[in-house]
Amino acid sequence: MKTAIITGVTGQDGSYLSDLLIDKGYKVIGTYRRTVSDFENKCQNITHLLDDGNFILEEADVTDSSSLYRLISEYQPDEYYNLAAQSHVGTSFKTPVSTTEINMMGCLYALEAIRLQKPSCKFYQASTSEMFGDNTQCPQGLDTHFSPVSPYACAKLAAHHMVSTYRKSYGIYACSGILFNHESPRRGENFVTRKITKAAARIKLGLQDELRLGNLSAQRDWGHAADYVKGMWMMLQHEVADDYVLATGKTNSVQEFLEYVFDYAGLDIKDHVVIDPKFYRPCEVPKLWGDPSKMMKTLGWVPEYDFEELAMEMYEQDLKKQYFKLNKTIDSNV
Ligand code: NAP
Ligand code: GDD
Repeated sequence: MKTAIITGVTGQDGSYLSDLLIDKGYKVIGTYRRTVSDFENKCQNITHLLDDGNFILEEADVTDSSSLYRLISEYQPDEYYNLAAQSHVGTSFKTPVSTTEINMMGCLYALEAIRLQKPSCKFYQASTSEMFGDNTQCPQGLDTHFSPVSPYACAKLAAHHMVSTYRKSYGIYACSGILFNHESPRRGENFVTRKITKAAARIKLGLQDELRLGNLSAQRDWGHAADYVKGMWMMLQHEVADDYVLATGKTNSVQEFLEYVFDYAGLDIKDHVVIDPKFYRPCEVPKLWGDPSKMMKTLGWVPEYDFEELAMEMYEQDLKKQYFKLNKTIDSNV
């Protein structure tokens, strides 16, 4: 039985990757970070795993190197997926220092812990298309020049270079997956897709009337997280460690995502959507459109979801959740 450590297991990707690895017969050590907010809420993406005998939840903070050394020494993992991050680009402008500590140093601490304690452990780094920043040469691939424009992307780029440095210098099996945007019903509620699907569901049920958004012209290459975690795992099963791009090869604007969801829900954007400059960023990434050809040719990766299926699933799940909450409130009042 293989053992994998997944940092950031309570997040979107951590939860889907845990499902996949447990299905493949792994023992998964998932790390979470204690906060004062309630445990149940924090663990909502992994509630279904908490009683699984092959899933162990461990407390760790990736900026506390001792917690990573402890985990690696105790569990001697075969694979380590570094997914923990301050992952919101807008927030990184407000918390640039802690974002850099988590997103850059968190990766370096893990690489050092692996080098010193279990050098045969394979390492996956969650790199990002945000590293292409304001370089709109499309489609973006492994030869595209990086041009980061946020503290988030700068920290991720430093970590990205650290991964190839450890691979070349110490022979550690370390891969970076440059992942374009991927979403799902488990997506954090302050990312634009989920903010839209949740608001559309609430408007439909009469629980909300207005949706405030920022820049609608930005374009993103949007895929489904379930497809992307498969790609992460595939990267660590190849004979040699390398870097890859994961993307759908298509791009859509935020406006198009909004239109699709509102049309599907039978709502009129003009009646509900307000542009609020509060959601503009100091610097924007205008267009992301990835080239996944290496991933497809070398590892045989093929995404199963398309843009419409993704948007529909997210809206339908949000509608179900909101409907359930509404009925619970009505029940408790009668
Ligand atoms: P997410 O839902 O925001 O999850 C991030 C996880 O990291 C959360 O569980 C968070 O826990 C945890 N975390 C934050 N700071 C931590 C710390 N100091 N120590 C330990 N855990 C910490 O992000 P995601 O969408 O799953 O993305 C996974 C990774 O892929 C991230 O590194 C992200 O930057 C990268 N990525 C994502 C995308 C995408 O489109 N989703 C694309 C490219 C790359 P808390 O609840 O405690 O904050
Ligand atoms: N979050 C948010 N909220 N974004 C908005 C809003 C809003 O109200 N209105 C417009 N946008 C625009 C943002 O300005 C951005 O251009 C686009 O919608 C997407 O924003 P996010 O969903 O926050 O994602 P992101 O593209 O900035 O970052 C995500 O993808 C990266 C990969 O390219 C995150 O998952 C990053 O962690 C990931 O690395």
